Amino acid sequence: MILVLNGPNLGRLGTREPDIYGAETFEDLATLCRDTGRKLGEHVEVRQTNDEAELIGWIHEAADGRIPVVLNPAAFTHYSYALRDAIAMRTAPLVEVHISNPAAREEFRHNSVVAGVATGTIAGFGLQSYVLALHAIAEMNTTS
Ligand code: DQA
Repeated sequence: MILVLNGPNLGRLGTREPDIYGAETFEDLATLCRDTGRKLGEHVEVRQTNDEAELIGWIHEAADGRIPVVLNPAAFTHYSYALRDAIAMRTAPLVEVHISNPAAREEFRHNSVVAGVATGTIAGFGLQSYVLALHAIAEMNTTS
């Protein structure tokens, strides 16, 4: 089982700044992640919330269940120390993902407060960032 967790505004993919985030919807993203999981022999559950408290609760759930996570923290990436502290308690791999490449965008997106407690980060490959992250987790599961 792998949890794919998404932070604020990602539920609006498809209509949200399509020049940056593409034309595919959140449902397309969820289908892509579940299909990738099927190919990798992993059950993938995809969730999205605009609520910091709910997202932190899911990170706690993953820590308690030793469940690997693919996380797009969206704007929380840049300022949520509470989310960072929750991720620091992780008990399984957690891959930070971004659809865009935040390092190539506005200055305030250049810093991730969660990167230092993630296993690693994949950014800038559109929805394929999630596919790469799922592969990375599947690889770690089979080699560890
Ligand atoms: C994002 C990048 C963040 O800077 C932004 O706030 C998002 C999406 C991405 O996937 O490219 O909401 O995480």
